[in-house]
Amino acid sequence: MEETIKKEKFVIKGLSGKKTLNGSVKISGAKNVVLPIMASSILFEDGFTATNVPEIEDVKRMGELLEQIGIGVEQRNKNIYSFKIGKKFNTELNRDISKKMRASILLTGPMLSRFGEVYFPHPGGCVIGKRPIDLFVNGFKKMGAEVRDENDGYKIFTQKGKLNGAEIFFNLQSHTATETFLMAGVLAKGKTILKNCAMEPEITNLADFLVTHGAKIKGAGTSTIEIIGGGLLKDKKIEYVTMPDRIETGSFLILGALSAKKLIIEKCNPDDLEVVINILKESGVRITTSKNEIIVENNNPKQIFNGVNIKTHEYPGFPTDLQAPMTIFLTQAQGESTMFETIFEGRLNYTENLVRMGAEILVWNPYKIEIKGPRKLKGKKLESPDIRAGLAFIIASIIAKGESEIDNVYYIDRGYENIEEKLSKIGVNIKRI
Ligand code: EPU
Repeated sequence: MEETIKKEKFVIKGLSGKKTLNGSVKISGAKNVVLPIMASSILFEDGFTATNVPEIEDVKRMGELLEQIGIGVEQRNKNIYSFKIGKKFNTELNRDISKKMRASILLTGPMLSRFGEVYFPHPGGCVIGKRPIDLFVNGFKKMGAEVRDENDGYKIFTQKGKLNGAEIFFNLQSHTATETFLMAGVLAKGKTILKNCAMEPEITNLADFLVTHGAKIKGAGTSTIEIIGGGLLKDKKIEYVTMPDRIETGSFLILGALSAKKLIIEKCNPDDLEVVINILKESGVRITTSKNEIIVENNNPKQIFNGVNIKTHEYPGFPTDLQAPMTIFLTQAQGESTMFETIFEGRLNYTENLVRMGAEILVWNPYKIEIKGPRKLKGKKLESPDIRAGLAFIIASIIAKGESEIDNVYYIDRGYENIEEKLSKIGVNIKRI
């Protein structure tokens, strides 16, 4: 399936810098919360239904992984799925899917917590640098598990079939490791204390969902989380509503700043994007926010945005997942800007394509670039290297002069629901071929 999707491409006719997009866009449910929520179904006796689930490739792959280990996954309707653990369980993760999707590692926490063993290959994912799993291996060892390298993968197991609560200090803040151990603690024996946790809103949302159904978790959203093991309530009819995707929201915000007359971003949560909104406002973008809506407007055609220096950072700092779209913004801002990617190495490689499009970008080192703007971009043939750079190429193609082709749209489909429909609706000339 992936192979056929990979052959699809987007063809986009650029606006030559004109700010003509207009209308509204509804933000979908967040990929990076629905994946751990799906993984958490391993912890529940009677399963649950999730609504506002984005129809994206990563959700399909996670669903396949779950089915293969013994979770019943049923699509009730568009964006509505139910998950329920079956009688038979297999503790070996599918090799092909796990190797392609880093988020597969989220399953290890609940699987070990419930069954005391898991086998998985080294997880893959987007091409954004080395993605080690030392935090996971060390954390499970602290919880009393043994780890063996086996068959190009890892077998992790406990002697007594149960993880023990433990104090785990993460040497660096990791989004997925925090979620994995938060779930591991729920069925572990005794108290688990996690220190130097990541603080992303998706983590708080996952913890809130588990707490609503009986988990004893304190401190999610801060750097120390405490979990008392003991399990979940046997609630019937549990429903989870997926929170809005803050990265999709930020991407539309940047697109709106660059090319819309007026764009209303609906069903989003502006509070999760404070840093992005602040930086864009300081740069001169006109943004107004209300509880679940952001409006970005360009009513002065002569408006020039100012360059800024940005450093990606764990939440609440500037998200690495918006680094690529923001770099496109900086190609259109006045003067010199810098972008310093501090989370992933190799996540600036896509910028050589922006240079081909006409951007002036100086690579200081693999982590830092300088962007001189504004520069007019020209349409080109591009290939999406990962989810976020793929979306950035869409934004670059929209503002450019002429036609662009973006290959490898599978990566974009991994993270964005109905992207071409949403873009067409606000006036983008985009076709999937
Ligand atoms: N790291 C280690 N050892 C580990 C785990 C992580 O050294 O055992 C390092 C990573 O190499 C990286 C840093 O820790 O340098 C932070 O990575 P983190 O673990 O936080 O990333 P992740 O959990 O694998 C999630 C998102 C990413 C997002 C990052 C950072 C999911 C499914 N993925 O990844 O999203 O970029 O956090 O916010 O939640 C995307 O959606 O396109 C995407 C890549």
